[in-house]
Formats: sequence, C-alpha cells, structure tokens
Amino acid sequence: MNNLNYKDLLGIGQLSLETIKLILDTAESFKEVSIRDIKKVPTLRGKSVITFFYEPSTRTRTSFEMAAKRLSADTISLSASSSSMVKGETLIDTAKNLQAMNPDIIVIRHSSTGAPHLIARHVRAGVVNAGDGINEHPSQALLDLFTIREKKGRIEGLKVVIMGDISHSRVARSNILGLRKMGAEVTISGPPTMMPDKAESLGVKVVNDPREAVKDKDVIMVLRIQLERQGKNLFPSLREYAAYFGVNGNVLKYAKDDAIIMHPGPVNRGVELSSEVADGPRSVILDQVTNGVAVRMAILYLLIGGLRVGNVD
Ligand code: CP
Repeated sequence: MNNLNYKDLLGIGQLSLETIKLILDTAESFKEVSIRDIKKVPTLRGKSVITFFYEPSTRTRTSFEMAAKRLSADTISLSASSSSMVKGETLIDTAKNLQAMNPDIIVIRHSSTGAPHLIARHVRAGVVNAGDGINEHPSQALLDLFTIREKKGRIEGLKVVIMGDISHSRVARSNILGLRKMGAEVTISGPPTMMPDKAESLGVKVVNDPREAVKDKDVIMVLRIQLERQGKNLFPSLREYAAYFGVNGNVLKYAKDDAIIMHPGPVNRGVELSSEVADGPRSVILDQVTNGVAVRMAILYLLIGGLRVGNVD
C-alpha cells in the first residue's frame, strides 16, 4: 500500500486528522518546486495519471495536470464530450477500458454523487474525486486548509464562516468535515433556503444575516451559487441575492481587519462577492489556486506511493 494507506481519495470523511496533516505537510515540501526555475522533479517518472472530467473545470483539472507534470508523471485528459460515452458507453465500461491501459491514478469529476466511488470499486488504479455532484470536493478542501494554515499559522481554534449556497456545495461539505477535524469552529451563512437540513448535526452554527455572520471570524469563505444544481428558484433574483446576501465592502465593515477572504472559484462577480472584496487586500483567492498545485502534487505522490516526504529532489 502507498504512504496514505488508501487506494483512493474519495472524500475528506475518510481521512484521519493525521492523514490530513500528512498531506498538508507534504504539500509544503512541494510548494517550493513550483517557484524553481525548472519546475519539475522526477518523483513520479514512469507513472501515468488520467483526468476524466464530466463537468467543466478551469482550476481543478489544470491543477491536477500541472501537479502530475511537475512530478514527471505522464498525463492524459478526457472529457465526457470527447469520450465514447456520447455513443452510449456506460460509466463502468468506460472506467474498465481506461483501467485496461494500466494507469496509476484516475482523477474524476462527475455531476452524480458517488460516481468516483463506483469507479473505484471497478479499477485497480487509485481514484481521486475531483468533485462529485453535491457530495464532496476533497482536494479543494485540502488546498483551503493548506491556505488557512499558511496565512494564519494554525487551524485549531480559528473561527471560520462559510457563506452562500451551502446545501448544493460539495466544497462546503468537504470544508466543514476538514475544518471540524482540524479543530476550527465553523459557522454557515446564507438564505434559509440554501442551508442544509439539520445543519447543526454537522457541528456548525447557522447565522443567516451576513453582517452578523462575519463578526469575529478569522476566515470568511464565500461560495458560488450553484444555479446548475438547484432545479428551482431559491431566491427571487440574482440582484436581490447580491443585495441581501452578497459579501461586499459594507458587509466587511463588520469583519475583523485581519480576516482573510476565500472563494474556491469560479467567482460570480457582483453576485456572491463584489470585485472590491475579491480583489482587495484581504483576499487570498489566487493563493488558493497557487497552493492547489502543491496540494495536488502531495495527493498524487502519496497515493502512488512515491519517495518519502522531504525527498523530492
Ligand atoms: N474550485 C473549482 O473546483 O474550480 P473549477 O470548477 O474551475 O475546477
């Protein structure tokens, strides 16, 4: 078995606190590779990584491919529209055919909850969940944890608010699980129609008013409204959402001066987040993207079972 003792990374729910810390610590040693003149180490030479995305992606797909290339693995990318699924091939048959080419890792994003878990049961390759429906987006949560630890020096004891469309967000679910395991105090905020049922059972507080929600928080994580997953109108209009629940300069007046602003992207500017906040001095949104490459290098490295942490030259 590899350094993680798992074949697959399917969700934050499966990870122990020690494993999360191992991934974050390993990512720290890989971050330096990305600022070298020659951004490549031979760690995964001879290994192959397939990225298979059924939904659009800018950050996650590019980041996994860049991470694999920086580790010298071979990368192959496949999207639903360019695969034989458009000719009627099933998900499992597609996965079995990819397995027949003997890849080491398959990174998959799918609109259905559980699709990566299903594939993982049918292939020998390690499977990484790059986002499944409204369920989990573990690599996003890990890069968010990495960024919080980098900016704040710790996670334990911090007060974090996650704002927006919580009930349709796999990013929210993975972050709630990860932040709670790391000892942060988590609040969720947004319209009541976008809060999950029995939110308190997740170990979080619910505060609907954004001004109240940002008070005393060390980290303000804003999420995109997942219009593609809602299926019905959960608020009257985007303009009213922005007016009542958008995070803008007026809302930030209630926040601590040293609070950091996070967003997983893509940002709907002027809806959940104003440009003055997204581009302002407290925003770490692009740092999250930078850190995503190092965190995904750590995930691939640990899953494939490469050299020990610290020996990345
Ligand atoms: N954060 C995130 O998952 O972005 P993409 O959809 O661009 O991959």
